[in-house]
Amino acid sequence: MKALVLAGGTGSRLRPITHTAAKQLVPVANKPVLFYGIESIVAAGITEIGVIVGGTEREIRAALGDGSRFGARITYLPQEAPLGLAHAVLIARDWLGDEDFVMYLGDNFVVGGITGLVEEFRQERPHARILLTKVADPSVFGVAELGPDGGVVRLEEKPAAPRSDLALVGVYLFTSAVHEAVAAIAPSARGEMEITDAIQWLIDAGRTVTATTITGYWKDTGNVTDMLEVNRAVLEGIEPAVAGSVDAASEIVGRVRIAPGARIIRSRIVGPAVIGADAVVSDSHIGSFTSVADHCRISGSEVEFSILLEGARIEDAGRIEGSLIGRSVQVSGAVRAPRAHRLVLGDHSRIQIAS
Ligand code: DAU
Repeated sequence: MKALVLAGGTGSRLRPITHTAAKQLVPVANKPVLFYGIESIVAAGITEIGVIVGGTEREIRAALGDGSRFGARITYLPQEAPLGLAHAVLIARDWLGDEDFVMYLGDNFVVGGITGLVEEFRQERPHARILLTKVADPSVFGVAELGPDGGVVRLEEKPAAPRSDLALVGVYLFTSAVHEAVAAIAPSARGEMEITDAIQWLIDAGRTVTATTITGYWKDTGNVTDMLEVNRAVLEGIEPAVAGSVDAASEIVGRVRIAPGARIIRSRIVGPAVIGADAVVSDSHIGSFTSVADHCRISGSEVEFSILLEGARIEDAGRIEGSLIGRSVQVSGAVRAPRAHRLVLGDHSRIQIAS
């Protein structure tokens, strides 16, 4: 079995918060979301991975390399433009051959991995297996309608009036039957070759398409609450490891990962939390469910249940919680800071908090 990972697209989106240009590299607990996908594929016993790349190819290649760090072999498959998920299958046709494969959208996150799902697929071998999850706003996803027996009746891509709250998760299991479907469909109204249409084609042609509904699914829609939540879920499972330096006046409580080169000075870190490489935390308190990325500086402040992206600086800012702070953002407090601030700041923002 092979895996086809989609990490193409242009990466440009209007959003309340920004991060790296490649949306597949958004960090969750200081690790790009794409890495979790690759790791879960390898954990399911699949090591031959084709990665679809587009406008952000350089960034993706720099992050993944040849795949050896994941115990995988990566083949890059350039796509000239983001012409659709089914188009990605089309251009991967020769590389895939007639093997079964899992197609994994690089910006999707499935808590708990996909090992069980891949095993089920291997045993049952339907022509296709899709994953579904209940979501609050189905209209921004592919949406499935199930029959009374739980079988998939109809799939619709981003419907204005969704017929159910079951969204298609970006992980699909296919046999080579999908190639016939992909070759048969035409581009949709938005000009993309939709994998949703290819799966509908399989259903209409009487092929077996099964569905599993999962919980613990996340994709970055720009919703800060969701991002904090997935960060929390991942931090709950981290293994503690202190590689950086912690001075005698500091205290580390619970599951905390401190990357090499990080320095903790006269501070208290209460896990689960991660502190990135070369970050410096001084005279501060870092509370649970906080991810501090590489090269951050935190001094004289309290930060809890928050995400700090690379190079953010927090100085004498009082207490910050439930916040997502972009790259190279600077937050500096004046005297007499208020009890708590909730902040959503884009990359390179600068903010001065009045006290
Ligand atoms: O995330 C789940 C949803 O993904 C499903 O519910 C939808 O049915 C499915 O169509 C897809 O919808 P999106 O509009 O969210 O897909 P997006 O364009 O964001 O692309 C998903 C990933 O695939 C992303 O990592 C970029 C990559 N991609 C996308 C296209 C269109 C490619 O590599 N090539 C492409 O041509």
